[in-house]
Amino acid sequence: MCGIVGYIGHQDCGEILLNGLRRLEYRGYDSAGIAINTPEGLRVSRAEGKLTNLERAYLAEPFNGSQGLGHTRWATHGGPTEINAHPHQAGRVVLAHNGIIENYSELKEELAKAGREFLSATDTEVAAHLIDHQFELGATDLHDAVRRALGRMEGSYALVVMDTQDPDCLVVARFASPMVLGKGQGESFAASDVPAVLEHTREFVFLEDGDTAVLRADSMQVFDDAGNEVERTSRHINWDPISAEKQGYKHFMLKEIFEQPARIVDTLRGRVNVESGDVDLAEVDIDAEWLAGARKLVFVACGTSYYAAMVGKYLIERVAKIPVEVDLASEFRYRYPVIDEHTLCVAISQSGETADTLAAMRLAREHGAKAMAICNVIESTIARESDGVLYTHAGPEIGVASTKAFTTQLAAVSMLAVWLGRRRETIDADTGRVLLEELRGVPTAMEEMLVDHAIYEGIAHQFANAHSFLFLGRGVVYPIALEGALKLKEISYIHAEGYASGEMKHGPIALIDEEMPVVVVAPKNIVYEKTLSNVQEVLARDGRVISIVTEGDTHMPEISDVVIEMPDVGEFVQPMVASVAVQLLAYHIADFKGTDVDQPRNLAKSVTVE
Ligand code: F6R
Repeated sequence: MCGIVGYIGHQDCGEILLNGLRRLEYRGYDSAGIAINTPEGLRVSRAEGKLTNLERAYLAEPFNGSQGLGHTRWATHGGPTEINAHPHQAGRVVLAHNGIIENYSELKEELAKAGREFLSATDTEVAAHLIDHQFELGATDLHDAVRRALGRMEGSYALVVMDTQDPDCLVVARFASPMVLGKGQGESFAASDVPAVLEHTREFVFLEDGDTAVLRADSMQVFDDAGNEVERTSRHINWDPISAEKQGYKHFMLKEIFEQPARIVDTLRGRVNVESGDVDLAEVDIDAEWLAGARKLVFVACGTSYYAAMVGKYLIERVAKIPVEVDLASEFRYRYPVIDEHTLCVAISQSGETADTLAAMRLAREHGAKAMAICNVIESTIARESDGVLYTHAGPEIGVASTKAFTTQLAAVSMLAVWLGRRRETIDADTGRVLLEELRGVPTAMEEMLVDHAIYEGIAHQFANAHSFLFLGRGVVYPIALEGALKLKEISYIHAEGYASGEMKHGPIALIDEEMPVVVVAPKNIVYEKTLSNVQEVLARDGRVISIVTEGDTHMPEISDVVIEMPDVGEFVQPMVASVAVQLLAYHIADFKGTDVDQPRNLAKSVTVE
């Protein structure tokens, strides 16, 4: 949520900033702006809503220069209006900010007493004034002014700041909000995320919390919290910038659904060894002896990642025989959880920046737990703060509704189950081989699911006007029913509820009538017969059943209005394969309704505030 791009170099940067913001659209935003120090002085263009509005405003009166910054804002303090959009200016200082300055009202009062006037309702404008004010108090240059101001600010921030009186530098700061630096030839970049500037450079420096940096066209200096100049290692990023484009698909979400088989192969590569029946997670630096003695595993996550954690519970308890708790990170942090030095906390987060998940993981570590992350973004905060990271290799996910990030998380928890099982000696090599063979078959099974979309288009035609959907699942695919309901409501704005099939008669059955489509995730597994009985209950109330079943099943189709078939795969991997069906169902209904599939209203890709 919120995206920043900063540029200092030898080129006119108007296009660079706008393209960079476009690449950060996936983070979600509701207004945008750019500011450039032109030979005629500072020029700012800002607009409410989508980037096309900003582009229109900018192109109506274009301006250019080689020092500038851009921002997409997701409103926190003050509505999503042009006046609240970043960049903000105060005196000679211009800045863009991500995060929240918690003591901003106290600072605002103090600055108002010093004669400062505010135009917007934002905490960011307060930061701009606070920095500019430091020049009056004796700051020697912009870096000094920023560091002095940071000493007064509480909360989280990623800041890119420029001084209209110094056209040769940008100052950057980071605390609890993502920020990367890119090194080009005679140019330097700052951005919230790598894809923003990947077309210009492959060399990135990842700042740590408390760092500040001074960027010039041909140099980059980084300073730690105490103000000492430090070396932060530079990393070469290989991502293909084309992979951040739609590649002919109507939406990023559809492209990302289709990418899943390949991304799962990437995630399993080098880790799964079917011959030895084991998984190699050398990157997770937690020793086998400690794992053998661990007393419980606690997953913390939010949203879709939380559903991946729920699948993890089913798989890990079955395979590794260790008690598993699954917590919504936002609840975990305030519920006095019982955690000790025998607990393994696993934080699941696509972005690696979700504020609640990060706080939950930190809390677990404070209580002595070992922390592991399942994460998609290299060097993200959650990844860096954990004892070991299992990276999902989903690549950049642009669609706000998570798809490939989710199924690669499922691949990760499946590997984790086998890895733990082998280390805790709850499964032998033969069982490991069987499970890993199933895992290795997932990409092919997914490919089969992706071939024919006619069934989903038909469902969209028939059911897109429904006011509400019920999703049912049981056992290992219960979380997929929850994920299906979340996907549908996120992108089609149709109300949907996910429920455990066996719970239906304890309440939601009251909702069922001939208007209510009920999606039942029911592959052949140990609870299949039970699910069949649950569907009979739906039928008896005239509900309309859309079932997702194992190919060749004859019983469930007899009592279903529409049948989606999935290949006959083992229970261990059914969640991954069934996910494709609920994703395509949500996608085609949303597409039929004509909603903004890739950037649904009110949603942000990366939720970096509590
Ligand atoms: C839903 C979705 C969100 C995220 C949630 C956690 O499609 O994407 O529910 O799963 O905001 O985000 P991460 O995984 O980045 O921590």
